[in-house]
Amino acid sequence: MGAATVAASSSRPMAVAAAIALLAAASFLAAAAAPVPAIYVLGDSLADVGNNNHLPTILRADFPHNGIDFPGRKATGRFSNGKNSVDFLADNLGLASPPPYLALSKSSNANYANGVNFASGGAGVLNSTNKDQCISFDKQIDYFSSVSASLAQSLGQAQAAAHLSKSLFAITIGSNDIIHYARSSSSSAATAGGAGDPSQQFVDALIQALTGQLQRLYDLGARKLVFLGTGPVGCCPSLRELSASKDCSAVANGVSVRYNAAAASLLGGMVARHPDMHYALFDSSAALLRFIDQPAAYGFAEARAACCGLGDMNAKIGCTPLSFYCANRTSHVFWDFYHPTETTARKLTSTAFDGAAPLIFPINIRQLSAL
Ligand SMILES: *[C@@H]1O[C@H](CO)[C@@H](O)[C@H](O)[C@H]1NC(C)=O
Ligand SMILES: *[C@@H]1O[C@H](CO)[C@@H](O)[C@H](O)[C@H]1NC(C)=O
Repeated sequence: MGAATVAASSSRPMAVAAAIALLAAASFLAAAAAPVPAIYVLGDSLADVGNNNHLPTILRADFPHNGIDFPGRKATGRFSNGKNSVDFLADNLGLASPPPYLALSKSSNANYANGVNFASGGAGVLNSTNKDQCISFDKQIDYFSSVSASLAQSLGQAQAAAHLSKSLFAITIGSNDIIHYARSSSSSAATAGGAGDPSQQFVDALIQALTGQLQRLYDLGARKLVFLGTGPVGCCPSLRELSASKDCSAVANGVSVRYNAAAASLLGGMVARHPDMHYALFDSSAALLRFIDQPAAYGFAEARAACCGLGDMNAKIGCTPLSFYCANRTSHVFWDFYHPTETTARKLTSTAFDGAAPLIFPINIRQLSAL
């Protein structure tokens, strides 16, 4: 009896202590789960959230049926039926998807500390890719340079550097260069291999430019890079439709694989020189090919034709208000002739966030975020 009374009377303070310990652990975990203050996004239409709406360009998506599955059925300028990969990246981190730079920079007291999206549909590693139709990757870095200076002014130099070093830099660039190359290269370029291989020379040129671009981002304060490699661009409906057999373009897919491999050694070399830099590289090519090769295994019914468009495979004409669109977007890998559906983007981002090598390496985005 006595022992039971003692135990009962002491259980309350013990429970309180345990609860306090649990609360402390929980708040520590919450803090540890969200150490990323902001995301800065650079790249192409796979990540554009409305920059091109502010440009005199034909490369835009601010009209239906784009956005048909976005909240409010809004055509925001995303090249998708709904959200894109950077939206899901932000969702996974518990952050708002960063706003387009060209919208944000118009406000008189723009706050750049919560992240900015510089991505622009059509952009490539090379300035010449879709010249004057988009914000080139170099120009996006110029814009980031002024954002970085603005942060240093508002937060102070040291605080701004600390802020940027904890932020994620999500980069998706290269697909448009590869699409242009595949469209313009003759079938003789398809021969893979040796030093004289023109597609190897093309990859070398891309990587040479990318080396300077990523180094510049590092010099401006980027320390945690999420590099979303190019997908199997030869399998996008637009390039597939070019061949009589409707097969994926082997030239484009081959360049994409080599570009991603070269980007991996570029990033590996950078962290060897800069131990305070970290990265996660997503092999979008291998990840998306799984869906294309075995659609049913991943919940898809259509991995070749676009959902929205006109003509053969809905791939002759893009997604416009006059285009056909499919009833069931979750069953399609591709939304329009170049871009994945929201469902594809969500599944790919989930793999990049929590998956493992060889698809995401040397660490995944969750691990990169926690550093
Ligand atoms: C691309 O344009 C930028 C200016 O936006 C310039 O600084 C850079 O040198 C150009 N790159 C090449 C390869 O021409
Ligand atoms: C849409 O397609 C998916 C995948 O093929 C399927 O699981 C789902 O049942 C379909 N939804 C409707 C409403 O048909």
